[in-house]
Amino acid sequence: MSDFYPVDPAFAASARVRKDDYQRMYARSVQEPEAFWKEMSGRLDWIVPPTKIKNVSFDPNDLYIRWFEDGQLNVSANCLDRHLADRGDKTAIIFEGDDPGESRSLTYKELHTEVCKFANTLKNLGIAKGDRVVIYLPMIPEAAVAMLACARIGAVHSVVFGGFSPDSLASRIADSGAKLIVTADEGVRGGKKIPLKANVDESLTRPHTSSVETVVVVRRTGSAIHFQSPRDRWYHTLMEGQSETCDYEPMNAEDPLFTLYTSGSTGQPKGVLHTSGGYLVYTSLTHELAFDLREDDIYWCTADVGWVTGHSYVVYGPLANGATVVMFDGVPNYPDFSRFWQVVDKHKVTLFYTAPTAIRALMREGDGPVKKTSRKSLRVLGTVGEPINPEAWNWYYRVVGDERCPVVDTWWQTETGGFMITPLPGAIDLKPGSATLPFFGVKPAIVDADGKTQEGECSGNLVITDSWPGQMRTVYGDHQRFVDTYFKTYPGNYFTGDGARRDADGYYWITGRVDDVINVSGHRIGTAEVESALVAHPKVAEAAVVGCPHDIKGQGIYAFVTLVAGETGSQALVKELIAEVRKEIGSIAAPDYLQWAPSLPKTRSGKIMRRILRKIAENQPDQLGDVSTLADPGVVKNLVEERLIK
Ligand code: WTA
Repeated sequence: MSDFYPVDPAFAASARVRKDDYQRMYARSVQEPEAFWKEMSGRLDWIVPPTKIKNVSFDPNDLYIRWFEDGQLNVSANCLDRHLADRGDKTAIIFEGDDPGESRSLTYKELHTEVCKFANTLKNLGIAKGDRVVIYLPMIPEAAVAMLACARIGAVHSVVFGGFSPDSLASRIADSGAKLIVTADEGVRGGKKIPLKANVDESLTRPHTSSVETVVVVRRTGSAIHFQSPRDRWYHTLMEGQSETCDYEPMNAEDPLFTLYTSGSTGQPKGVLHTSGGYLVYTSLTHELAFDLREDDIYWCTADVGWVTGHSYVVYGPLANGATVVMFDGVPNYPDFSRFWQVVDKHKVTLFYTAPTAIRALMREGDGPVKKTSRKSLRVLGTVGEPINPEAWNWYYRVVGDERCPVVDTWWQTETGGFMITPLPGAIDLKPGSATLPFFGVKPAIVDADGKTQEGECSGNLVITDSWPGQMRTVYGDHQRFVDTYFKTYPGNYFTGDGARRDADGYYWITGRVDDVINVSGHRIGTAEVESALVAHPKVAEAAVVGCPHDIKGQGIYAFVTLVAGETGSQALVKELIAEVRKEIGSIAAPDYLQWAPSLPKTRSGKIMRRILRKIAENQPDQLGDVSTLADPGVVKNLVEERLIK
């Protein structure tokens, strides 16, 4: 029997959505999706309001997803201009730097001015509707300014997380064909500097990056950097004298807003493409209801803008709602383990949203660093990115929230745009470790390996049987890959790549990825990417990468490596190979364990049996299952004996 936390009646009394509202609205949203979403679309300002609401086919042979397709709007106008009359002097962004002494804020009026000036700058630099812009910045307000300026003129941004290496950046530039990059001289995290501009310089020496004409550089640390004229331009110089107004481009609801690269089972990361109308309706509605947003809330999501959470729930959803958003450029343990809670007290944060990995890392330090802060402003706590273990959930609820604040465990994905399964804090009773029930319009189902829908209490693969407005529309430049990845496995359904269990109350428990994606600290790493970085080394013949349990990160990366004949493994070579992965992808993909494998377990047709490697990495050698189909069952014995986690 798991813990159960019924909705607090005091919270429910003034909540935006209560229990009967949820049931009634959910039923309507799935029975009459057109009427429901037409009504919900009214939350935005449209230049031309949509009359066609939903036009979708999940048939893999004829796949299309269109929402509000005859409507026109501008996302930046919805996040800024429409607030100016009533919220012009309201704080839009509170910036909190890595250094606790650094903070500043921008009102909606000020943010609007900055965005208009940068939109004019982009236009002067030859950027027009449909052009792609790569954003490689720290968590500074200029990141939001750059995103919104792109949205204003109809340019399609592609934000690349500052922790990615020059090679990863280069492959994203090449895939997107970006004309312009916005970056900073350096970033600072936990007191350490990150050479962003130097990384950009290096990435632009790689093949297929010649589409880039201009690099705009924000001065963040002031350190000396290499500057290449006329390609490189200072942000602050370009902004001087720009007009403070800029007409926004009327965009069709289905015009692209951004692409964001994410890892999957195979090949290179894919450019997940989101469009304008459906995405903004969905992110703003989910944000408002899952956090029970009020006019005077101070909302803080700790995610970086380099990930989808930073797009949907730092920038677009909250700003469309006219909320006050904290943007934090630091880390949870700098200068010390109280930092999150000091920032909560400093800015009187009411709604706080972070990842299980951060909660676990802080929990390990004990209650002390939390308890020395007040946190009495907090109202709702959220979590995202990976399954949260009940122990961490309870600590978050009990110690951080003083048993006062509902915990919303939001399950969603880069591909889904916004929350899919999540509690609404005034309406849905909580069970630690469960993302609870589907959001409005979301129809989850659990299928077995053959695609047969399971009823009642069950577990299996999680699919979504019908479209919702925030859904990704395609893989940039490769629509067939979109169809193949998400719609072929269980035809007629969107396949999430996650496993899930449904309990007797209909609650969903996400059990983690069922494909070859590892979730490290809430970041998706494709095993294929790590493998290809490893085999790029001349001494490596073959590599297989799987996930392993990790106390803080949720999952760690476990690599099995076979060297070319004549080479022998050494500690120095382990270090060298891990450094290779850091260089090719970035530190987040560095293997935690690297085991030498004289050979890998394969089927007679030559396919690596990952199931077996997973069990070895999970230290469950007695659960290897049937090894009789292996070409050479003997290889397993050695791998089990030499395993690095015992
Ligand atoms: C996992 C992040 C359990 C899941 C928004 C999903 C979760 C992947 C949760 C998407 C949650 C995200 N509980 N698992 N609340 N939230 N996940 O694209 O495996 O970076 O498929 O999007 O993270 O990761 P992504």
